[in-house]
Amino acid sequence: MSIDHAPETATAAASGANATARFATDKSAAAAATPPERVSLLAREVLAAVHKAVHDHKVTYDEYNALKSWLINVGQDGEWPLFLDVWVEHAVEEVAGETRDGSKGTIEGPYYVPAAPELGHDAVLPMRDGEHGTPLLFQGQVTDVAGQPLLGAVLEIWHADDDGFYSQFAPGIPEWNLRGTVTADENGHFQIRTMQPAPYQIPTDGACGKLISAAGWHPWRPAHLHLKVAAPGYQQITTQLYFPGDKYNDNDVADAVKPELILDPHDVDGGREVTYDFVLDKV
Ligand code: DHB
Ligand code: FE
Repeated sequence: MSIDHAPETATAAASGANATARFATDKSAAAAATPPERVSLLAREVLAAVHKAVHDHKVTYDEYNALKSWLINVGQDGEWPLFLDVWVEHAVEEVAGETRDGSKGTIEGPYYVPAAPELGHDAVLPMRDGEHGTPLLFQGQVTDVAGQPLLGAVLEIWHADDDGFYSQFAPGIPEWNLRGTVTADENGHFQIRTMQPAPYQIPTDGACGKLISAAGWHPWRPAHLHLKVAAPGYQQITTQLYFPGDKYNDNDVADAVKPELILDPHDVDGGREVTYDFVLDKV
């Protein structure tokens, strides 16, 4: 059976607008409670850093107007979630993770969708007939920091396909493709069958892509699995796992790779297998 592949129709405007709509639905309410002293402090310091760059580098009116026009385009292309999650989120996550002893986390990125289908502890992620790529068996155990299994821990997993596209953000992919909610068994074990994702290119046809090409950077993230791992009474972790030998592991546009997050898969008949365990801190 042939697959309705997305690449020719995926655009920055489409995935940007979808990411903006998704953020408005799921997350924007959390932003309301910041106290005024904190807003004032942070706004002042960020603006002071901008003023310093203007003075230090003698920014011209042409450059200022180029910035203004670019910022307007980031909004028009719906790319604020993409911009922030690529160039800012990693610092926020580093601060958030400073006080945890368990598994490392990293950025969530713009493509998480809650309430993916529940697949039990021995899961096959939803995929198209003939889904491209290398079959991957991803398995492990969820424990507390003392090594006690966390029975019933819940893992949400989502990742790009073998062309680097995410369901619900790139067009032409079934709604829950390569997304699922997995519940660990009574020993904290889980196993997930999926297809290894490809490196991901942040959309190059929108404002973020313009910044990348104007600056002479590259738009790539290494191939990665996204996960959220939770258990009652424990801190949820949001993380990503990477594959050894990926040429973007040392050079991720989103700066989100940590050595602890690189998997150690081995080849088996018909694909690859990898074990990775998660350790959660108490609330
Ligand atoms: C972006 C995309 C990702 O898949 C990711 O993990 C992080 C950031 C982005 O396009 O902003
Ligand atoms: Fe991603």
